[in-house]
Parts: sequence; C-alpha cells; structure tokens
Amino acid sequence: MRKYILSAVLLISILTSTYSQQTNGTFTLGNKEFLLNGKPFIIRAAELHYPRIPKEYWEHRIQLSKAMGMNTVCIYLFWNLHEQQAGVYDFTGQNDVAEFVRLAQKNGMYCIVRPGPYVCAEWDMGGLPWWLLKKKDIQVRTLKDSYFMDRTKKFLAETAKQLAPLQIQNGGNIIMVQVENEYASFGNEQAYMEATRDAVREAGFDKVQLFRCDWSSNFNKYKLDGVATTLNFGAGSNIDNQFKTFKELYPDAPLMCSEYWSGWFDHWGRPHETRSVSSFIGSMKDMMDRKISFSLYMAHGGTSFGQWGGANAPPYSAMATSYDYNAPIGEQGNTTEKFFAVRDLLKNYLLPGETLADIPKPVTSIIEIPKFELKESASLFENLPEAKKSEKIQPMENFDQGWGRILYRTTLPASASKQKLVITELHDWATVFIDGKQIGKLDRRRGDNTVKLPAFKSGARLDILVEATGRVNYGKAIIDRKGITEKVEIVDGKKASEVKNWLVYNFPVDYKFQRGMKFKAGRISGPGWYKGNFNLDKTGDTFLDVSSWGKGMVWVNGYNVGRFWKIGPQQTLYIPGPWLKQGKNEVIILDVDQPSAVFVAGLNAPILDQISPDASFLNRKKGQTLNLSAEPPTFRGSFSPGEGFKDVSFDKTVEGRYFCLEALNSHDAKDDLTTIAELELIGEDGAPVSRLNWKVVYADSEETTASNSSADKVFDLQESTFWQTQSVGGRPKHPHQIVLDLGEIKKIKGFRYLPRSDKKTAGMIKDYRIFLKRDEFKL
Ligand code: GLA
Ligand code: CA
Repeated sequence: MRKYILSAVLLISILTSTYSQQTNGTFTLGNKEFLLNGKPFIIRAAELHYPRIPKEYWEHRIQLSKAMGMNTVCIYLFWNLHEQQAGVYDFTGQNDVAEFVRLAQKNGMYCIVRPGPYVCAEWDMGGLPWWLLKKKDIQVRTLKDSYFMDRTKKFLAETAKQLAPLQIQNGGNIIMVQVENEYASFGNEQAYMEATRDAVREAGFDKVQLFRCDWSSNFNKYKLDGVATTLNFGAGSNIDNQFKTFKELYPDAPLMCSEYWSGWFDHWGRPHETRSVSSFIGSMKDMMDRKISFSLYMAHGGTSFGQWGGANAPPYSAMATSYDYNAPIGEQGNTTEKFFAVRDLLKNYLLPGETLADIPKPVTSIIEIPKFELKESASLFENLPEAKKSEKIQPMENFDQGWGRILYRTTLPASASKQKLVITELHDWATVFIDGKQIGKLDRRRGDNTVKLPAFKSGARLDILVEATGRVNYGKAIIDRKGITEKVEIVDGKKASEVKNWLVYNFPVDYKFQRGMKFKAGRISGPGWYKGNFNLDKTGDTFLDVSSWGKGMVWVNGYNVGRFWKIGPQQTLYIPGPWLKQGKNEVIILDVDQPSAVFVAGLNAPILDQISPDASFLNRKKGQTLNLSAEPPTFRGSFSPGEGFKDVSFDKTVEGRYFCLEALNSHDAKDDLTTIAELELIGEDGAPVSRLNWKVVYADSEETTASNSSADKVFDLQESTFWQTQSVGGRPKHPHQIVLDLGEIKKIKGFRYLPRSDKKTAGMIKDYRIFLKRDEFKL
C-alpha cells in the first residue's frame, strides 16, 4: 500500500513539474525585434541535425550548444529519412524528431523547425525522397507538378502530427517554422511559395511564426505575406552590407541571419574546408553588437551516416561522409577552439535572466582498436543477386532501388576494329569489364563517359558496375537519377549504335543484403565484400582508419557508417560508441575499387584532411599558356570596388561558346591575386543563361591545396565560394585568365561578376578584358 501511495505522489509531482514548464507562450515580430512572451528576444540558435547525431548523444549535443551560449536549437526535417517508401512514415528511434525537440525543451532551449519539403543540407536530393524520381517527368519545388505538391502536403501533415503540439502557443518550445529553403536560389515561382506556406499552416503549424530564408542578393525575387524574411551568409561576412537592401525594403523587420556558416562542407577529392576562428567570431560579434539574431549553421555538423551524403552540381561533386563542417563542436561532439571562442563572446551578450550553462562531460570516451585483418571476402561477380531483364538501359530508381551499386551486363557482337563505348549519362562512378577483365574506370566528376574497347573475335561479355555517390542536393541538377540514365552506345568511327538487352543486378545498401554474401577465407581481386571481427573489453567512440581501401561503404555491427574513397580528404569513419559492443564486433566493407591492404584500425582521432592530389583536375595542363595577343577583346572595362554583383552590358549582343575573362589588376595595386565568387552571362532575354553544362577550359592558376578555390567555383552556384589564383607555395602575377566553355553557342548581351563576399578584399578585380568566341582559344 505504502508503495502505491509513494508512486502516486511521484506521479503527481512529475505531472505538475511537466505542467509547470508547459505554460503557453508567444513568439512574435515586434518593431525591429523579436518578442518572446512580449519581451525583446535575440535568437542565438545552434543548428543540429538529429540524423547526423546518434540518438544516445542528442542530449549531450544540445547541452553543449547551450554551454556555448545558445538559447535555441534549429533543426531541419529530412523527408527522405522519414518516408523511405511512399506512404510509410517512420518517426521512431533515431527518427523521433519530437523527442529531439522535447529534449531541447527539457534543457531550456527553444526550437526552430525547418520541415522543408526541400532542405538542401548536403543531404541526398536535398531531403526529397528518391522514389519521386520513379515518375518520369517529375518536377520538384513547383506547382507545375501536382504529384510533388500532393506528396509534399502529406509529408507536412505527418510532420505536424509530430511537432505541432510543441508550438510555443501550445506550451511547447517551437518558436518559428521555416517555409521551404533558400527558394530564391532555385526559382521565382511566387505561387509555389504561397502554396507551400499555406500547406505548412494547413498541416497543423497553425499558430507559430513562419519565416523563410534566402540570400541578400536574391531575397527580393519573391514576397511571402505573413512570413518573416531572414538571410543566410557565412563566416567573415560584412554584416552591414548583408542587411543593407533588407533594411531598405523592410525597415521595421527584426534582423536575423538564419544560417551563419561556421565552416563549410567537404567534397571528395577536394581539400578539407576550414574557416578561421577570427573571421568567424568577428562577424558574429558584429551581429551581437547590432542585436541581430542568428542561427549557427552548423553548431555541430556530425556525420552523414549511411548513404545520406549529397552532392553539388555543376560541376558534379559528392560530399564526404563526415559533416564536421569545421564547426565549433567537432564531429564526435568534442569542444574546439571555435567552441570556446563562441562561449567567450556570447557570455557578454546574455539576455536578462540568462546564465551561461556548464560544459557537459563527454558521454563516452574515445577508444583505439588495434589494427586487424578482414580475413573473409566475397567477390561481387560470384554473388550476383537475381537479374532483371531490360531491353533499354535504365537508372536504378526504375528497378525500385534507392541507393547503392548497379551492374549492367550484356553481350557485345564480335568486332575486328577498336571501338568506343559511350555512356550517357553516368551517375556517378563506374568500372567497365570485358569478359571479366577491367578495361576502364569512369568518374562523373571529370565528365568521363567513354572507354576504348579492344577488338574481340567472338561475342564479349560487357559489365558496367556503377556506384552511386550522393544525389545532387542543390540547384537545378537535383533531378539526379542514379546508374546509367539514358543510353550506352558503341561508336565505330562515325557510326553509333545503341547497346540493348541488358541483365541488371541491383546491390542495395541494406545491411541484410550485405550479410547475405557467401564469404570465404582469403582475399579476392576486383569488387566485393570483406568481413572481419574485433573484440572489445570496453566500448567508446573511435575513428575507423580506411585509408588503405579504395571506394565503397562500411557496415559496423549492422550500422551503415558511410562511404569512403581513397582520394580523401577524409580517411577515417566515425564510429559512435553506442554502436559497438563488449565482446565480438563485426565489420563489413564493400569495396568497388581495390584495397591496397585489407586491414583496419580504430584511431583515437579523425583524419579529415589527407587528400591525394589529382593533376587531372587542374584546369591548366602542363605546358599550356593562353596567348591573347592576336585576339580582339569583345569588351574591356573596370569594376567598381566593393561587394555585390557588378552588372556589365556589352555594346551589342555577341555570339559565342568560349568565354574568357582576363583580370589585369586588383583594386589594391600590390595585390597579385584574382578571386571570383560567381560569373553569370546574360542572354538575349536579359536573364542569365543556364550554367548547368559549363566547363572550365583553362585557368592560369588555382589554389587547390591551401584551400578549395578551384576555377569551377565561379559557376558552382554558391556565392560564398570563389576561384582564387595560387596564394601558397607560389603567387603568380597578373594578368589572370579563366576560359569557360558554355557547352553551345549562345547569344550574350553582357555578364555579371560577383566578387568574394567576405570582409577580405584580396583578388578583387579592377581592370579586365572579355573575349567571347565561337571557336576554342589556342592553348
Ligand atoms: C545553404 C542551405 C543549407 C546548406 C548550406 C551549406 O545555406 O540552406 O541547407 O546546404 O547552404 O552548407
Ligand atoms: Ca562560387
């Protein structure tokens, strides 16, 4: 009896304590400020992505964010995580987003929710489900596709079932909900944004303040009544410049940087991205001094486990597994120099009644695992799943496969001459075999699409094994089906014939599938799986050193821990302690290339910055120089100093395919560098021409080791990235030239140049010449 009374008392006290937290509140827009329960409030938000953090660590990362000086967490929802099959929703376990939001509330943190439908976030397809691609003519982020809109509404409704009860007006901690994501950098269909706003409301986010985020250069492309506008920009930005136009257009609106980029994401094959503590803290202080609200993207990036990492295009470039982001809280939840710099800064800007929280202790320790061998293996060619027949080649989505690898097999007729095999389009990386012998490797990043075939007397077996890396998550290239999307041709001289009648083998990413391979002792050659075990007395976080492996994916105790690729910069994979066990643990590695040694080890620190340089990606081949002495310039001019797009109109419309910009000097006469953040060419209709098929033909110099500043950054659609001529280990002088191939002849009326948009001015061009030609430049 006493026991019952005690538990009843306990129950009542639990209930009253939860009730006491759940007083309904308000969050509204005041005059130039946000109002929380009627009082001025400056948002200091920490962006955290629940799927990028093991659930066991959610609370720790929330507490770390709070200790850094934050009062809010900001989250995306990842549609394709929650609805992996159309109509089947999962909000449990690691996907229990409501639990994440409640944990934030428990720790005294408000929450900003960004349910999409599109989120970008360097996440496969920007969060959109791959199965949308099963519809042949699918269009996304537009009212033109009623299927897309219908699925969007259904997903938003499911989201609201989870989270609408947690709106602040209902006693929860959600103060704002975002509509779509940076839509102005994709389109200008006002009606789509209005419909998406209405869908968010109708789904059930009926009371909370809505907002949208865009850039200072484009937020004005559309307007959205009833929705606050916020701007995104990165470390080192000039805050007054960023908000200049905004303040003119919305003089009474509160100011918020909804994504203040603390670092940046890593691409396979490109140097590890970092942003200096001083530039990052400098602009953050500028915001605090001006009482500007912000959300730190990312406060803690974590890991794009499994197949979730995305890609950018143009040019196609997939994201590494680590999403460390050079953020204040490192990938494994560690405090960094940036963390303490933020904490030191923000302690001076706390609001009345706020105190700085203590730094929580790590949840687990870091362990090392001595090097061990993966002693068993299973050849891919000896473990083929059941084949599907297809007359025409088709992408993997058409075979109901979302991610992974796909093998296309057929028989080629005898041929006396040496022919070429041409693939349209390869997504994203392939090895080609004739009668089991590897004859080529193709990489979409380089635009590879052709292999030379040997002559063969009788028919030969052709195998094309394609590995999908991340789906494009940003820009118009987001419709990114995987495998081979259109056709394969044999080209003999000028004659091309399409190859048909394929056997198709699908290799999905599920652990169940990998476990089913017939493993044997010993080592295979060619693509396949490797399996090994290790024993642990004590579990903890570790970093699996996969630097001797080629390209593929790793499963530890059934958890898909992500992709690896020997080109770096990432050479270790983060394994969270809770995914390991005392006693026997299992590792399976699928390598579609070739390991140089079949060992792994658990290290006590990550390796995120070891890249194997690949000269084939440089845009100036050995011995090349651009000689413009005989070329008549199309235009010459001088740019004004300062930030923002510089619009230039030619005297008349010019036709051409090859565009060259030559920088003759910088605004600072002593400055040898050239930097360009973005270049757009203006077509006859006054709008920028599509840059999807642009290629860099030549850049006299590129900084590709000290920073990721290759010439393709002038059309990667990111205003915060830029081409920079070499600055470390060499510093060539002006003139500097970049030559672009527009893919076809275009009528061009002028161009737009965007200088770098951080506070630094090095490389900002003053005098320049433009050359636009139908034919290639001589190199
Ligand atoms: C934009 C997007 C984010 C993310 C960042 C870059 O701001 O809104 O989702 O992609 O860029 O990390
Ligand atoms: Ca750029």
